[in-house]
Amino acid sequence: MQRESDILVIGSGAAGLSLALRLADTYRITVISKDILREGGTYYAQGGLAAVLDLEDSLEAHIEDTVNAGAGLCDEAVVAHTVKHGRENIQWLIDLGVSFTREGRREGIGGYHLTREGGHSHRRIIHAEDATGAAIETTLEDQARHHPNITVHEKHIAVDLIVSRKLGLANNRCLGAYVLDRAGGRVEVVQARHVVLATGGASKVYLYTSNPDVATGDGIAMAWRAGCRVANMEFNQFHPTCLYHPEAKSFLITEALRGEGAILRLPDGTAFMEGFDGRAELAPRDVVARAIDHEMKRLGIDCVYLDISHKPAEFIQVHFPNIHKRCTEYGFDLSTDPIPVVPAAHYTCGGVMTDLHGRTDVDNLYAVGEVAFTGLHGANRMASNSLLECLVFGQSAAAHIRTHDHEVFAPDAAALPEWDESRVTDSDEEVVVSHNWHELRRFMWDYVGIVRTTKRLQRAKHRVDLLLNEIQEYYGNFRVTSDLLELRNLAVVADLMIRSALARKESRGLHFTLDYPEPDIRQAPQNTVLTPPGYLAR
Ligand code: FAD
Ligand code: SIN
Repeated sequence: MQRESDILVIGSGAAGLSLALRLADTYRITVISKDILREGGTYYAQGGLAAVLDLEDSLEAHIEDTVNAGAGLCDEAVVAHTVKHGRENIQWLIDLGVSFTREGRREGIGGYHLTREGGHSHRRIIHAEDATGAAIETTLEDQARHHPNITVHEKHIAVDLIVSRKLGLANNRCLGAYVLDRAGGRVEVVQARHVVLATGGASKVYLYTSNPDVATGDGIAMAWRAGCRVANMEFNQFHPTCLYHPEAKSFLITEALRGEGAILRLPDGTAFMEGFDGRAELAPRDVVARAIDHEMKRLGIDCVYLDISHKPAEFIQVHFPNIHKRCTEYGFDLSTDPIPVVPAAHYTCGGVMTDLHGRTDVDNLYAVGEVAFTGLHGANRMASNSLLECLVFGQSAAAHIRTHDHEVFAPDAAALPEWDESRVTDSDEEVVVSHNWHELRRFMWDYVGIVRTTKRLQRAKHRVDLLLNEIQEYYGNFRVTSDLLELRNLAVVADLMIRSALARKESRGLHFTLDYPEPDIRQAPQNTVLTPPGYLAR
């Protein structure tokens, strides 16, 4: 693979590819992706992107809704920055060729149809039917693959970042990364002047998740080991409505269904959301997911039901063609029956701490997209703000790289130490990896889920400590595989989540604990910031 480039982008979703495309006119860019290029959260996004596009909407309203959903922890400067750059980023996508769904009857940016989701006071979600992520990802992919300055390496997984502190140098700069070629089994050194983590979230740490398999928190774990602070890891978002079916792998049923009038019902048909929140089905996600969890536990039921059958069949097929098709494959007809749904882990609100330019605590290392903690989402992300964040911070980080590139000195790849395999052998007990993987995701679901207690969190902490030791020993003795790397990263992320959850002695947003069921009003809301060993303040 290419051993030297100006910019190494780790991850090929909306964050990584948009950043790469914005810089490719001037720089040689290497993009690596641990699976095929499109496999990531972006491709599976359904609802759309939030932005102020309707004449009746305003930047102030989008900012206020985001801050309200964030339950006191949004950084308002970051929210304003993101919201203000929304429209131009949508236009950028349209110019690249993304075909958003049009609707002649409504006014707004070029007459696109805008849908509604929880927490939004206006219609402001631009979308491509119910498969917005696929439309965005395939457009970005097509552009990246055909760009002469972008080199793509699929099925290459970053193992760790190479940072100057670990080479005994004075400051902490990122110099590149060790990358495993999954087909060849070799770990190679990739040197770059700037490294961008765009590795997505960590929801695979839970047994049930809407996320694809790649969402194992690799970027968060690598940044932590490299010396970056990580914040707000207790705030993992559970999407209220994933299809409950043994073969559906928690297939997401977009919130836009509720935006267009779908109602949540108990098995006897009773609608229950009004009893929990005046906004009913369009309350923010934390409220809806907790209400469902409450009803499932109260009644001892396996799922609740989402009902849009009161809408005309044609409306459902036009607005939700892909979901309609998938549900039909599993034997459910959205236009005649309520469908069974359950919450599942969906989005990592915390992550690698960055500033407004996507800069982390390590020089020349940026984090963009779901991997990052920018301060946008606070204690609860509002629907469809995530793709927006990927694009806006991809744009800001690209601008920062362009302006500051002349300050960067980078050694050539030959000066960086090769990956050392002299003390490891091939594993003779791969089963340990799959066993630990299952155990971790099970106890995270049971003890660090929608409703927490201190005792359950302590149980989880005890278990993760044992696993971390076991995995470290295994890692030290055996040749790396992608499964082992992901397990190692998941365990680090689980530990960060549990420590953050234990540190928060209140309930706020997505973090709800029976031991402290209310927000702590004695002090201003605080972020939970974890500092790694070897952290160097700038
Ligand atoms: P991703 O798109 O997840 O991409 C991560 C990339 O990193 C992948 O290419 C992966 O292979 C790569 N990678 C990871 N680790 C490594 C490694 N160690 N080495 C090399 N490569 C690595 N948000 C919205 O705003 N609107 C929506 O409608 C919406 N719907 C969603 C529906 C679903 C089912 C899901 C799962 C999420 C949804 N989200 C939505 C959230 C949103 O899609 C994600 O937050 C966003 O796409 C993340 O983009 P990203 O570029 O940060 O990462
Ligand atoms: C959805 O379509 O419900 C997901 C939207 C999001 O996660 O932002």
